[in-house]
Amino acid sequence: MYEVKVPIIGKKRKKVSEETIPTNFEDFPPFVETCDFQNWRIKGKQHIDSGGFGDVFRACQGNDCKYVAKIIHYTPSHFDALQREKNDMYMLGNMGLSPRLHRAILCNKKEELYQGIDDFNDAKSVFEDRSKEEEEENSELFKSPNYAVLFSDFIQSFKPKDMKKRDYIKKLDLPVTKLLDQLWKMGLAPDTATPGNILPYLDPLSKEWKVKLVDVGDIRHYDSPNFLSKEEQESQIEIALDAIADLFD
Ligand SMILES: Nc1ncnc2c1ncn2[C@@H]1O[C@H](COP(=O)(O)OP(=O)(O)O)[C@@H](O)[C@H]1O
Ligand SMILES: [Mg+2]
Repeated sequence: MYEVKVPIIGKKRKKVSEETIPTNFEDFPPFVETCDFQNWRIKGKQHIDSGGFGDVFRACQGNDCKYVAKIIHYTPSHFDALQREKNDMYMLGNMGLSPRLHRAILCNKKEELYQGIDDFNDAKSVFEDRSKEEEEENSELFKSPNYAVLFSDFIQSFKPKDMKKRDYIKKLDLPVTKLLDQLWKMGLAPDTATPGNILPYLDPLSKEWKVKLVDVGDIRHYDSPNFLSKEEQESQIEIALDAIADLFD
């Protein structure tokens, strides 16, 4: 057992118990390299968000639509980073720290990718608008015909209307501390300051608030655990809590 005691809004943090920590970051599962969707599909009309490299949509396996698909545009120079994101997400998903990764595929032509999308025209307009906007800034990336698709669990994230920011932060304090603490113990550091990368949700079974790291794309690997000082840890936790609360203000 170890203890993380960081006072926030005048309160002492509770103890966080140590759990089994994997140390290997293998290339697993391998990408399916044929743009083979099997019975997975992307709901083109349900576009959740766009980030630097990706578009996130709701997705289904058969008729079960509790998933998301993150479509990542990449060039060969981004491939190592892409493979790291896939491997890290798989490992963290199995540990319950990220949404579980179910399928990772590579598509080498846009047309193949569109075949996996429910509403071809809608999805196409999303990509085309986006690439026009950003083409000049990042022409190398958007000329690329290469797409990766990561299918993972959808996190239904919300803040109850009547909950004050302060109460919300209090409820998320322990789950956020525990999540970051487990990552630090593995020598991993996510960019916690980015809103939208750590999503809170109400666990329907336990009725407790929990959090998951949805975006492992920019996670940094360090050679040793505990690479942050206690003060740096405190400030990272506070930044993460503030960023999450701000998202739902
Ligand atoms: N599993 C998920 N469940 C719900 N929303 C998600 C999920 N994954 C991503 N999102 C939403 O999509 C946004 C962009 O996804 P993210 O993985 O952060 O992409 P990027 O690498 O482009 O920042 C997130 O900020 C979040 O709002
Ligand atoms: Mg992100």
